[in-house]
Amino acid sequence: MSERTNEELLKIDKDHVIHSMGTVGDDPEEVMDEGHGIYIKLTDGEEFIDGASQLTCVNLGYSQDEIADVVAAQMRKLTYANTFFGTCNTANIECSQKLAGLTQDGLNHFLYTCGGSESIDSAVRIARTYWRNKGAHAKSKIISLYNAYHGVNMGAAPTTTLKQSVFSSYIHPLPAGYMHVPCYYCYRCAYGLKYPDCGIRCADVLDYTIKAEGPDNIAALLAEPVHGTAGCIVPPPEYWPKIRKICSDNDVLLMADEVMTGFGRTGKMFATEHWDVIPDIVAMAKGLTGAYLPFGAVALRDSVYEGLKGSQVFGFTYSGHPVCSAAAIKAMEIYVRDKLVENSAAMGKYAMERLNTELVDAPCVGEISGLGLMIGIEIVANKETKAPNMMASMGIGKACKAKGLRVRAGGRIAFTPPLIITKEELDKALDIMINIIAAVKPK
Ligand SMILES: Cc1ncc(COP(=O)(O)O)c(C=O)c1O
Repeated sequence: MSERTNEELLKIDKDHVIHSMGTVGDDPEEVMDEGHGIYIKLTDGEEFIDGASQLTCVNLGYSQDEIADVVAAQMRKLTYANTFFGTCNTANIECSQKLAGLTQDGLNHFLYTCGGSESIDSAVRIARTYWRNKGAHAKSKIISLYNAYHGVNMGAAPTTTLKQSVFSSYIHPLPAGYMHVPCYYCYRCAYGLKYPDCGIRCADVLDYTIKAEGPDNIAALLAEPVHGTAGCIVPPPEYWPKIRKICSDNDVLLMADEVMTGFGRTGKMFATEHWDVIPDIVAMAKGLTGAYLPFGAVALRDSVYEGLKGSQVFGFTYSGHPVCSAAAIKAMEIYVRDKLVENSAAMGKYAMERLNTELVDAPCVGEISGLGLMIGIEIVANKETKAPNMMASMGIGKACKAKGLRVRAGGRIAFTPPLIITKEELDKALDIMINIIAAVKPK
């Protein structure tokens, strides 16, 4: 606990800290001070269940001593090691071998970053480098989906289509060479169609777009296996196998953004496993260390790695950082040892059963979708018209907060608690959320 009062801390923060994703000049509201298990404590003494794993990153919950111990030991042993000039480091080598053991078949080569946006930026660079190295100089365009969040740096921002007015309108011009196609948001289908009669039109449109632009101009498709920031939107089961085939048939790389979905979040180690799809490039971050340290990676399939040979690939000062690598090794050990991927699948299934049963008549609930512990509830003003109800959604977020549960509230309520959550803890969180949502009056 800090010696300073809550008010003093908030004042210092206001004077000196620029908050990410906030409106510049807005006052911060609360100071986080401690975390244990799935709980966070503020400096004013309030404690709450973190039903969002903050930014869906604290997969392992708070204060895992084992990670703290290996990090401290690694800091004392080898604080830093660059990966630029013919050197590598033991922790990063061990980390890479462990990661290769968790990724799908053939995804064996890793470039390390400090987070999700950097992983996406790196994936874009790699895709373009791969084609240039093969002599396909025009194959440079990157296609991403509407409703996607892939990060904010200049490589990732043009792929992020969610709330463009918020995320990118202030930083125009964005780099050229990016395109977008409708996504698998069946509840609000871009074509007004209904699954399964739609025949997955959104995927057909991808094929059409690639052919219309000319496959010789398209480097890669980038997509989240489940739309995360948009509120946990799950694709129909045919979607990923279909886009895998379209990409292969058109000689376009398939890049999966597993920054949020990776490391057990959806009940599989990586989400594309649900559909037996192996992407060519996988971006990851958050769960790699469970947010204990900023670390990310881009995984390449053997064929992509072979295709890159002889080209020049970039790197960062902190690529393959030994301390982050040590944290990642321990995090990956915990996911497997404590069966957290299985827990995510079982707890997610149980939560979906309760939500689908107990909210079936809730007037404000448009749809509930989920995969593992990545669950989204669409809040609407009218079930017939599907009119969005942002006010009600924000109100649900606030009411949950008042009862000691934090969830992410946008047009949809996103419920993504740490993967360590027990059934008792889950029931406690669901009791709060379900009671509040069920009580929302129709507009
Ligand atoms: C799917 C996805 N990709 C990329 C990012 C960007 O990651 P970061 O904030 O670590 O740059 C996020 C962040 O939420 C994400 O959810």
